[in-house]
Amino acid sequence: LITPVVLCGGSGTRLWPLSRKSFPKQFVPLVGNKSLLQLTIERLSGFGNETITVAAEDYRFMVSDILRAARATGPIILEPVARNTAAAMALASLHIEKAANADQLLLFCPSDHHIPDAQAFFETIQKGVPAAESGAIVTFGVVPGFPSTAYGYIQQGTKRSDGSYQVERFIEKPAIDKAESLMLQGGVLWNAGIFLARASTLIDALRQHAPDILKTCQESLSAATHKSNADGYLLIRPDNTVFSSCRSQSIDYAVMEPCRDVAVVPFNGQWSDVGSWNAVADLSSPDEEGNRVEGQGLAHNATNTFIHAPYRPVVALGTQDLLIIDTLDAVLVAHRNNAEQVKDVVVQLEQGQ
Ligand code: GDD
Ligand code: MG
Repeated sequence: LITPVVLCGGSGTRLWPLSRKSFPKQFVPLVGNKSLLQLTIERLSGFGNETITVAAEDYRFMVSDILRAARATGPIILEPVARNTAAAMALASLHIEKAANADQLLLFCPSDHHIPDAQAFFETIQKGVPAAESGAIVTFGVVPGFPSTAYGYIQQGTKRSDGSYQVERFIEKPAIDKAESLMLQGGVLWNAGIFLARASTLIDALRQHAPDILKTCQESLSAATHKSNADGYLLIRPDNTVFSSCRSQSIDYAVMEPCRDVAVVPFNGQWSDVGSWNAVADLSSPDEEGNRVEGQGLAHNATNTFIHAPYRPVVALGTQDLLIIDTLDAVLVAHRNNAEQVKDVVVQLEQGQ
């Protein structure tokens, strides 16, 4: 049996003004009326096991509400501050080592991805089980579309006897020239950000490659408080002072790049990390001119224009290649080529410029 672990700490500033620090992307109802977190929890319920959610303390009410709506069970580990995915994954692994057993298979999943074909997802994850049981960290690889600098790259090696492929090298978020040469060279996959491993495998890898992170997480967890909330979810709170002193690094840099025993299973289903407004636009179907319009939007004589307008009529007349996002207190109008730069604007706004 696999125990899913949902990582729910990111702030997704590229989807401003809909995604905010206080209400980040995974909670925004982006697909139909559901949030990506709820869709993730519902998809993972297919494993028939309890789910461990690791989330920021600030999100405890939203997380608990969504778990209840999805009828999920399992503890919520609340981080007093964000210390990135190495620490979040260490906490979940150490918790299961103590509460269940060290050999338990854990499936670490982002809370903010869109994977519409649950069946293809399950079949792919199951293909990784033999490699994970033999002590590898299993990654899932997506066929890359363009030389993105926002993803980890997996150099796919030879087929292993367990049916997965050996990872020759894992390269996290390469610079653009490196991304281009990796694409030219071929045989690379994007890291989907989903990892399957025994708890003990991850703990051993952290001990070897990021011992300080493991130690801080161990100390903060052994001094944790345990309390059930009104909905019956166990809230585990690592010690604030100790956890705050933890080094902040992603699992990709801390473990995946230096680790040797890494396997990959290619994932052929539809996958999106909904990383920008262009990716959100791609979730809805276009009209003949490539316009995608939600809510009360109206595109006239326009091409390739995306309008998100839940509150009032928003009209685009004769526009091309625009993203128009209307919210109650802020409006974004951006050229589609600039979607990645939204996060830079958020920094400027935070500085009061
Ligand atoms: N609990 C917790 N605490 N969760 C966190 C934290 C944290 O401090 N930081 C990030 N997360 C969650 C995010 O909410 C997200 O669901 C997931 O962990 C991954 O973090 P991101 O910050 O979104 O990572 P990324 O998108 O830059 O890169 C990762 O994902 C790519 C695919 O989307 C890497 O694994 C890349 O290699 C990969 O290609
Ligand atoms: Mg991400």
